[in-house]
Amino acid sequence: MVDPIREQWEANSQAFAELIGGEGTPHHRSILNPCIEGLLGDVQGKKLLDAGCGEGYLSRFYATKGAYVTGVDISPKLIETCRSLHDQENLEIDFSPGSICDLSEFSDCSFDVVLCNLVLLNTPCLDEAMKEFHRVLSPGGMLVFSIVHPAYDFYGPGSWEMGEKDPTTNRRKGLFFKVDHYFDEKEYQKYWKTRDGEKFPHPISFFHRTLATYLNSVGNTGLVVTRIEEPKPSGDDDFFDRENRIPFFLVVKAEKAL
Ligand SMILES: C[S@@+](CC[C@H](N)C(=O)[O-])C[C@H]1O[C@@H](n2cnc3c(N)ncnc32)[C@H](O)[C@@H]1O
Repeated sequence: MVDPIREQWEANSQAFAELIGGEGTPHHRSILNPCIEGLLGDVQGKKLLDAGCGEGYLSRFYATKGAYVTGVDISPKLIETCRSLHDQENLEIDFSPGSICDLSEFSDCSFDVVLCNLVLLNTPCLDEAMKEFHRVLSPGGMLVFSIVHPAYDFYGPGSWEMGEKDPTTNRRKGLFFKVDHYFDEKEYQKYWKTRDGEKFPHPISFFHRTLATYLNSVGNTGLVVTRIEEPKPSGDDDFFDRENRIPFFLVVKAEKAL
């Protein structure tokens, strides 16, 4: 059976890899990456699963920090991109196509760290993925995942009321954020744009869920949430006026008991 999510990312693989550009968008670099690095701490010698690795920029980054990295992604084309980019950097990483909803190719307790950056909001199988993360983690291991903040879900029921374009940042001013139907958990489809403003070839599915649904899904596995972050942009760049007023991302750290 054709998996529609896989088809979306296959169709968008090139556009997505170009958008990430080897190191992430300004949102990744200024908001998410420093937060994730702080939560993961020292990864030297740790076995790290990059669950939904995309074009692999986090896999490459944590391999340079001494982790033994395995990257899994549902899109075989993105896995090919991962392989070609990591060949260029000469790093030891295993990349394999697969779904985070079924990690049966990995045995129980085979990772110290599971990192799942901006993937769960694109997958219908939240509970299955959480169970798999718990299963493949070693006792004492940690899960760090990020999502677009469910309470201000720009890819779901929320949106900014926009003002004029600010000529210095080239972004439209956010007047206020509006959200409604927060409790309606459903799929939204949106097109992303390339850095040149072209539409991606295929719309992307975003599964809006409440904050309680995410946190209860973690707790139901037995993982214990030990930290929640709503990271702000580093520095005071006017470009991030909106993200300095309302959190764009939510990052959660959870741990498996010893
Ligand atoms: C927004 S991208 C994030 C990629 C990467 N983690 C990053 O930070 O650049 C979402 C990724 O999730 C992958 N994906 C979606 N559903 C998946 C699933 N069930 N299993 C594995 N990967 C999945 C997509 O192919 C895509 O690469």
